[in-house]
Amino acid sequence: MTGINGELAPDAKIAGTDQAQRHTAAATTEREIVNDTVKYVLEESRIPRVWYNLQADLPKPLPPVLHPGTKLPVGPADLAPLFPMELILQEVSTEREIEIPGPVRDVYRQWRPTPLYRARRLEKALQTPARIYYKYEGVSPAGSHKPNTAVAQAFYNQQAGVKKLVTETGAGQWGSSLAFAGALFGIDVQVFMVRVSYDQKPYRRALMETYGARCIPSPSPETQSGRAILAQRPDHPGSLGIAISEAVEVAAQRDDTKYALGSVLNHVLLHQTVIGQEALLQLEMADDYPDVIVGCTGGGSNFAGIAFPFIGAHLRGGRKVEIIAVEPAACPSLTRGTYAYDFGDTAHLTPLTKMHTLGSTFTPPGFHAGGLRYHGMAPMVSHLRQLGLIDAVAYHQSKVFDAGVLFARAEGILPAPEANHAVKGAIDAAIRCREDGRSRAILFNLCGHGHFDMQAYIDYFSGKLKDLDYDEGELAMALAGLPSVAEAA
Ligand SMILES: Cc1ncc(COP(=O)(O)O)c(C=O)c1O
Repeated sequence: MTGINGELAPDAKIAGTDQAQRHTAAATTEREIVNDTVKYVLEESRIPRVWYNLQADLPKPLPPVLHPGTKLPVGPADLAPLFPMELILQEVSTEREIEIPGPVRDVYRQWRPTPLYRARRLEKALQTPARIYYKYEGVSPAGSHKPNTAVAQAFYNQQAGVKKLVTETGAGQWGSSLAFAGALFGIDVQVFMVRVSYDQKPYRRALMETYGARCIPSPSPETQSGRAILAQRPDHPGSLGIAISEAVEVAAQRDDTKYALGSVLNHVLLHQTVIGQEALLQLEMADDYPDVIVGCTGGGSNFAGIAFPFIGAHLRGGRKVEIIAVEPAACPSLTRGTYAYDFGDTAHLTPLTKMHTLGSTFTPPGFHAGGLRYHGMAPMVSHLRQLGLIDAVAYHQSKVFDAGVLFARAEGILPAPEANHAVKGAIDAAIRCREDGRSRAILFNLCGHGHFDMQAYIDYFSGKLKDLDYDEGELAMALAGLPSVAEAA
């Protein structure tokens, strides 16, 4: 076993026999790896029984969500056309623990608890004294963290008698997760998939259809919001903001139909906290605790999932951890956006939330991490950044894929393009450890596999992956269009 400082315990060291001495250094390295724990696995009985609600421990409450017309705080009734009441109550709850319903835990058993890996081969490849751990969410049926909330959302909607859920998807991970959850709970699912991703990832669409969902490229002629965009630009690549507008528009038209969001909202982040809670237990098995936590951020949900339980522990008097959100340089809401009230969608159908935003009309370029092409950021994650409790960094996609390929060659798992951002953040942290000669524990969320994203890797290997930059003029215009909201001091 490895101690907290990363040294090999005597029983794990290779015996100094003649035979061993004849081995090459590489073979020695191989044996050290094999003799140490790589996977920390929990029994099914240790799937968390509650979701952890960081709102209970925040030093300052979140700014209220505002009605887009009156600009006054919204009440539960305002959200009722879109969400079932249980989810609305979770959205505003300040209770620390919210019980996970039995039927949801039963579905979680299918893939949870997910493994925590010690990235020993990556550590060797980087020659770092850092102890790198990653929580692997790619073992879920859809291949990412997204079913953690999809299953919960489908369950509460089924309980409320909802027959159909409409949603958006970027890379298709969220759409396939909701399609899977809808199949389990007998709910029809309709997915508006961002056009550029729909073209890049045809197999994601096929997976959604396999689960019984209908998948439509967005912007589409099926909604007023989609038709308005297509009238301006028939070849529009789409964005998550536009796909959300289309889904909300369809959901608002019928009583038996509701909307589901795969990120950003408090209740979505809440459901993801099973990730960090399990990681806490698994690190206890490893007799370790993270100094650094890294997650990629699109709308903020997988990042919240891994980080919030540790941030909560710190706020309740525990150890402070350096927490790093990693985002794409082509859609840098946390590092380049304004902290302001904005719409969650392009057609301005959603309430206003205070968040880091690039402006709701901003269309990011069509880079491969489709799940990170969102103009805004979860209000909870934005709030933490304002409070100085998290850091953020942005990278271009070629560096991110360099990191993902290095990781795949060391650890064998092929990360989703989104997850490559976290891999890059963790590798950079490990390299800093090497330069400083410090052994720190780095935990990152490997939030999904990239088996449906092979075109991105093909483009990378053929040198076609460009470091796309957003249009500065468009960003300035989108930010100039932020709604004006008079805020109490
Ligand atoms: C694999 C993967 N990671 C990350 C994200 C980004 O979302 P979030 O920031 O909510 O985790 C997505 C979104 O689709 C995704 O598919």
